[in-house]
Amino acid sequence: MVVNIDRLFSKRATRFRSSEIRELLKVTQIPGMISFAGGLPNPLAFPVDIIHECIEKTFQKDIKQALQYGTTEGLTSLRGVLAERMKKKHHINCELHDILITSGAQQALSLAAICLLDPGDTYLTSVPAYLGAVQAFTAFEANCESIPTNDEGIDTDSLRRNLERLGRTGVLPKFIYTVPTFQNPSGETMSMSHRRELLDIASEYDFLIIEDDPYSELIFEGDPIPPIKSLDTKGRVIYTSTFSKILAPGFRLGWVIASKQILDKLIQAKQATDLCTNSFSQYIAYEYINGGYLDKHVERIKKLYKRKRDLMLKYLKQYFPSGVRWTVPKGGMFIWITLPKNIDTRLMFQKALAKKVAYVIGEAFFPKGGSYNSMRLNFSYSEDELIKEGIKRLSEVIKDELATSYQLDTFPPDGV
Ligand SMILES: Cc1ncc(COP(=O)(O)O)c(C=O)c1O
Repeated sequence: MVVNIDRLFSKRATRFRSSEIRELLKVTQIPGMISFAGGLPNPLAFPVDIIHECIEKTFQKDIKQALQYGTTEGLTSLRGVLAERMKKKHHINCELHDILITSGAQQALSLAAICLLDPGDTYLTSVPAYLGAVQAFTAFEANCESIPTNDEGIDTDSLRRNLERLGRTGVLPKFIYTVPTFQNPSGETMSMSHRRELLDIASEYDFLIIEDDPYSELIFEGDPIPPIKSLDTKGRVIYTSTFSKILAPGFRLGWVIASKQILDKLIQAKQATDLCTNSFSQYIAYEYINGGYLDKHVERIKKLYKRKRDLMLKYLKQYFPSGVRWTVPKGGMFIWITLPKNIDTRLMFQKALAKKVAYVIGEAFFPKGGSYNSMRLNFSYSEDELIKEGIKRLSEVIKDELATSYQLDTFPPDGV
């Protein structure tokens, strides 16, 4: 008998779609393509030799345990050094039992979705939003409400208006998702006053905050702004971070800090999902932090990424036509570009690929659509000379597009 797979798939599975954007990005593998699309760390910066040493140490000391199943919560020694680090560097009041090690921050988002979202529930996200989070929440059939951002991060006035509007129809959102520091994709950072206000609003309307923080250690200038979690005395914030951007994404190691009630639920959900995070990579990461290597490595990659950001900004200024605006991130990996209104970056994408340069279309970061004239550029991954060449190519594509589609008198007055 032929398998009638359409009958057998769950309703949920039939709604899964491969992200259109990930499909588009497959072409970035084409030889000669300069890709500013992926959110990838620079592989030349991976501390290969020291990781080798940490593996050797693990072999000498703990190899039998490292090859064994671990606890769902994660390796105790790793949680211990992480708790110390989160206290010292990020002012989060936590101990090792407040930490759950996950298979990347992505799993933390997915576990939060399992534990918090029933089909039809509503969550909020600031937009533009990290695509992977929206995918994780959509998988659990939740409704998304987008909240715009401004210079200080989330637009708190709009947030209040939306909460009032939702409240009138009896909708109480479960949580707001936000990347407050060096956001993916905009590179922007939420001010301290907005962090406080967001926590106050969450308390007033009784929803949780999922604070996703992969980038705050990659700070190039200015004073670090403490995470929202550091202000949280009531267990309202679920904080997640990852080794992916500060060490290596191949380890698939992230962590969550949350109240005991929430953490216990996440642990139960994780048990049902994968039993435990990769033990071997947890031992290596422990050796890496315990050996004092992580701080030195972060200092090194901060210098590298700052240089690359400066290079990209320099060439944007040199080559991009007037009428194009961009963010100047003080850390992280991304610059957000806003083009004149009559350019559609989705339509322009194929033309960019023809010139062998790739970006992520801005619309991809808006779950409800919008911002068709924007794009995200990653500056951490490409070699210096490719940053120059890629920006040059992209500027030609934009200029061509402007020449064919643009009436000069439609430039917005503040369009720089
Ligand atoms: C904002 C944000 N959250 C989560 C993730 C997922 O990170 P991980 O590799 O730890 O799963 C990423 C990866 O790019 C990200 O940018």
